[in-house]
Amino acid sequence: MTIKKVGVLGCGLMGSGIAQVSAVAGYDVTVLEQEQKFLDKGFAGIEKSLAKFAEKPEKSGITQEKAKEARARIKGTISQKDLADCDIIVEAIIENVELKKKTFSELDAIVKKEAIFASNTSSISITEVAAATKRPDRFVGLHFFNPVPLMKLVEVARTIATSDAAFETAYEFGKSLGKVPVRTSDKTGFIVNRLLVPYLLDAIRAYEEGVGSIPDIDNGMKLGCGYPMGPFTLLDFVGLDTTYYISHVMFDEFRERRFASPPLLKRLVMAGWYGRKTGKGFYDYADPNNPVPGQF
Ligand SMILES: NC(=O)c1ccc[n+]([C@@H]2O[C@H](COP(=O)([O-])OP(=O)(O)OC[C@H]3O[C@@H](n4cnc5c(N)ncnc54)[C@H](O)[C@@H]3O)[C@@H](O)[C@H]2O)c1
Repeated sequence: MTIKKVGVLGCGLMGSGIAQVSAVAGYDVTVLEQEQKFLDKGFAGIEKSLAKFAEKPEKSGITQEKAKEARARIKGTISQKDLADCDIIVEAIIENVELKKKTFSELDAIVKKEAIFASNTSSISITEVAAATKRPDRFVGLHFFNPVPLMKLVEVARTIATSDAAFETAYEFGKSLGKVPVRTSDKTGFIVNRLLVPYLLDAIRAYEEGVGSIPDIDNGMKLGCGYPMGPFTLLDFVGLDTTYYISHVMFDEFRERRFASPPLLKRLVMAGWYGRKTGKGFYDYADPNNPVPGQF
């Protein structure tokens, strides 16, 4: 099927980015939120981001005019009925399985039958959410990365019930947004977190075992492997609370030690040291330009 109109659920960090890239790609977009104030906040973010891209049109390909046109293609609503004629719905509401199931089951009765439903969830089973609708064959995972307008990857995940046609349509949709889609299946963590999370947890275990200091392990992986940043710097960026949460979901699914949270991670989370966002994690960010590594 041809996608012309995109519905986005949630105008937070991810939803606003998904709405933005869809509009820049030429789609008509309707974003659903719970309350007008969340739409206002999300739209302000979109306008700021588009303005920034339009400052360097030779690099971004987005001129002032293109940014204006894209902005005009995005509409906000707080009524599910306004999504009835969408061809694809991309959900980016909070990470709560019951809320996702309820929202999709309500929309299932409203949105046209042929439309594809997609979830941007990082950890919830797509199969479980799809089962709350009467269209599990037209249900996929579309996992974008933050910040959506900058990050090139989108993981396209199929369940055992997803039809080939729906999967390929979602894959091509990802491509049409200027992203590089990768094919994966509905297993917790998909490709990226499946490989990244054990690596980050293992860096903490290496530190716990005295293999090296925090800056030495960071420099080792940065300079020895060509990674843009070391594991502790990355952990502090992602948020230690988020990593802790996802390690539990993955451990629960696979029951393997590599997904288990190391004691030090738990201690930091219990202390409220979540990384950059709280000013302290594996590094102390009292001076954000000169993070000081912790010693634990
Ligand atoms: N933040 C990330 O780095 C990241 C990366 C990949 C995937 N994800 C996933 O994307 C989803 C959204 O994450 P986020 O970081 O954008 O969260 P967020 O809290 O920034 O945004 C969620 C938005 O959903 C809105 N919302 C809640 N219930 C709603 C409903 N019933 N209808 C419409 N809107 C509703 C909230 O008002 C809020 O604005 C989650 O499933 C998360 O796992 C997040």
